[in-house]
Amino acid sequence: MNTTLSTNLAGLNLSNPVMLAAGTAGYLDEMGDVLDVKKIGAVVTKSITAKPRDGNATWRIIESRGAMMNAVGLANMGVDAFMRDLAPRVAAVPTKVVGSISGFSVEDFVTVAAAMDSVEAIGAVELNVSCPNVHLGVEFGSEPKLLAELISAVRPVLTKTRLFVKLSPIAAGRPGIVPIARAAVEPDSAGVNSQPAGPNQRPGADAVCLANTMPAMAIDVHTRKPRLSNITGGLSGPAIHPIAVKLVHDVYRGFAKDTHTPLIGIGGVLHWEDAAEFILAGATAVEMGTALFVDPRSPLAVVKGLQKWVHAQGATSISELIGAVKLA
Ligand SMILES: Cc1cc2nc3c(=O)[nH]c(=O)nc-3n(C[C@H](O)[C@H](O)[C@H](O)COP(=O)(O)O)c2cc1C
Repeated sequence: MNTTLSTNLAGLNLSNPVMLAAGTAGYLDEMGDVLDVKKIGAVVTKSITAKPRDGNATWRIIESRGAMMNAVGLANMGVDAFMRDLAPRVAAVPTKVVGSISGFSVEDFVTVAAAMDSVEAIGAVELNVSCPNVHLGVEFGSEPKLLAELISAVRPVLTKTRLFVKLSPIAAGRPGIVPIARAAVEPDSAGVNSQPAGPNQRPGADAVCLANTMPAMAIDVHTRKPRLSNITGGLSGPAIHPIAVKLVHDVYRGFAKDTHTPLIGIGGVLHWEDAAEFILAGATAVEMGTALFVDPRSPLAVVKGLQKWVHAQGATSISELIGAVKLA
């Protein structure tokens, strides 16, 4: 029996559901030095901001038990340099490219989104409204109305590029992950009117990414100083995986299943089983970040493992297993 891993992310067709997560794989296809990028479903760029940023001082990446912690602080070249130096190279990347965007105001997000929309080969943008390591980083992603207003401002400048939104795991506090995710996908649920650029586009986001790092802190007990120069950081890796699985499960059952909104599971995918868990919880695709620091070739092993799993489950397509967790 032939099985397929091909994945439809709101019309963006990936050869398989394994993507490289924002900020962990360079700007574009730098991972090509160690793995065959065309065998990966998609790469997500480092988050690009309106102005260049140096990020936080070191230490800004440390190890933790079952995890790593980072406070990079969105170090990046800024949108002008991205458009000048990297945009012309996007079409040559041998897989799908998703452009990650971060910002500190609605205007910041709109400026970078409009620039990325003009790059033919960028299939989707991913709004990072969930960075724990910069002032105002999680602001937009923690309040439904603010998020809906951001979406309604970005949506009209995207003439052909799909709109993904990446939320924070702490949105699971109040008011809860489901209303936040719904505000991104259906801005009118938060009382905001949104007009897409084209007749076939949704008023809100096309897909929701769950999730970014978990705010965290580590202290050196000998020096009594925080281990990260930023004092706090974001936890990633296996330690956060079960948290992210529940977020995907909650949002899938909450509204994504009924509205056919694809979810992207992010957090602690090291092995194929972690990716398979996300799929069963309701994710259409997964992103891998911390795993690349452990074994940069691990995404290829995850793709292979998923292929065997789909076959062993008696499915012909991985899409048959999305949300297929047996709850009773
Ligand atoms: C060093 C590092 C840098 C990151 N930079 C970004 C970034 O620029 N934009 C973003 O949206 N997420 C960023 N993230 C978060 C990851 O994309 C991902 O959401 C998170 O690490 C959880 O996935 P993982 O457990 O597979 O690493 C970064 C994570 C790490 C470890």
